[in-house]
Amino acid sequence: MLSFLTPKLPSVRILPVSRSLSSRASAILRPLDIPLSGEIAGAYDGSWKGSGDILESVCPSTGEIIARIRTASPSELHETLDKTRDAYKHLRALPAPRRGEILRQIRESIASKREALGALVSLEMGKIRTEGVGEVQEFVDICDYAVGLSRMMNGRVVNSERPGHSILEVPNPLGVVGVISAFNFPVAVYGWNFALSFAAGNATLWKPSPTTPLCAIAVTKLIARVLEVNDVPGAAASLVVGGSDIGEAIVQASGVDLVSFTGSEKVGREVGRAVQSRFGKTILELGGNNAAVVMPDADLSLAVPAIGFGAIGTAGQRCTSTRRLYVHRSISDKVLRALSGLYSAISPGDPLESTTLLGPLHSKTAVDTYVTALTSLRASGAEILSGGDDLEPLPAPLATGNYVKPVIAIPRTHDPLKEPWNKELFVPILNVAIFDHLEDAINWNNAVPQGLSSSLWTRDIRNVGKWIGPSGSDAGIVNVNVGTSGAEIGAAFGGNKSTGWGRESGGDAWKQYVRWSACTINFSDNAPLAQGVNFSI
Ligand code: UN1
Repeated sequence: MLSFLTPKLPSVRILPVSRSLSSRASAILRPLDIPLSGEIAGAYDGSWKGSGDILESVCPSTGEIIARIRTASPSELHETLDKTRDAYKHLRALPAPRRGEILRQIRESIASKREALGALVSLEMGKIRTEGVGEVQEFVDICDYAVGLSRMMNGRVVNSERPGHSILEVPNPLGVVGVISAFNFPVAVYGWNFALSFAAGNATLWKPSPTTPLCAIAVTKLIARVLEVNDVPGAAASLVVGGSDIGEAIVQASGVDLVSFTGSEKVGREVGRAVQSRFGKTILELGGNNAAVVMPDADLSLAVPAIGFGAIGTAGQRCTSTRRLYVHRSISDKVLRALSGLYSAISPGDPLESTTLLGPLHSKTAVDTYVTALTSLRASGAEILSGGDDLEPLPAPLATGNYVKPVIAIPRTHDPLKEPWNKELFVPILNVAIFDHLEDAINWNNAVPQGLSSSLWTRDIRNVGKWIGPSGSDAGIVNVNVGTSGAEIGAAFGGNKSTGWGRESGGDAWKQYVRWSACTINFSDNAPLAQGVNFSI
């Protein structure tokens, strides 16, 4: 058995059927048709079900239990897998532009609930409302992209060396795509996968993070309605809320042709091995440990706010969050003073309030990670430039939320292979080092195991050339005068090295969601062999 996809669910408990929700939560759940009392079914494959363990969705901002969800039992999961396979057979027979038309309707449905879904993301995940809405917009954007793709997923005609022959490279639907997503982007990352998978003619089975089930249920409800109107089996967009047992079963199911996994490197390594051992396909989006590099000629009026957003935005819980800052010695005082000023102007608060820029961490475990990291920074003699002191208690109901102060630290070592540099921690701690030559900053940027995102601040075209070229940043995202986080959907999104080499979203990412058929067709009256091989009998 694999031991991944934490947290393990508690065993079945008898819980009260009704609950009394705060008006804060009920105002958000009601417009999305999420029941305000009782247990909520967490599995969908054309009908809603769930007779497995109960899972609680906890609001990170207040600690309120906002829902109790019935997860899929093992037998329900297997039934859902079978139904998803059948839905694939239905979808693959539809012309791709027809699938695109259905996606267009899904896009409209998601867009019509953009504000409501964005608020739910904020309530359940804890990111600030504008980022929650932005994430839903990302789903809308990728639907637009995939609608276009549905008329452009072209194969190729290849010249044959044999007379009267043609070679076609044909993209055919692949089968079932399993999407195992993380808590930090509970809507958009599924959207990236679902939209491409659907356009390509696959059925998708979604296992969301066990801590953001409501976002998944709300999105699936919207999609399910569109599928129903279009006579497409609901299992084309199946959902199984559950814990590690469900994740393991998906990873090991031979009927899941592609597993798209977002999460930690530790779990991703196990997922990669398990899927590879049955010769399935994977897309892995694992750890990021992203650096911003500031050159002496950088426009600091752009760089400082962007670094602040990269490090503090989503409370440091994006895969693309800025975790390392490399500043040129000649401007280091100026940059750090400006950045400390920005940090001192930001204090955590209710992510649903429009003026809040920093919400809570997603879980108590993340708060523990933050405290441990801060303690070890202190113990190793790091200078703490900002944050680090105790947070004033927030007023009720926020007093029981997972709030922390963002931190800027200058560790004693700049050695990228040593702690704290070599690890991704999903908390708002920004580590800073001073460099003298761009080459040093590039070496440090590249020396860590992860390779997701990176950002250079300069106005000098020669620096840009170094940064984006063969001796430059080895991350999958190599930005210039743009922060490490906040990528658009148009380019393929993903990272290199221990980030897993996966690519999702735009660019050529769709090519992973099909099976390629190389078809050599003989239109002639002869049957010559390739390479002039003679086999006359
Ligand atoms: C992630 O953190 O897993 O570039 C995804 C960004 C977002 C997606 C991040 N568009 O920050």
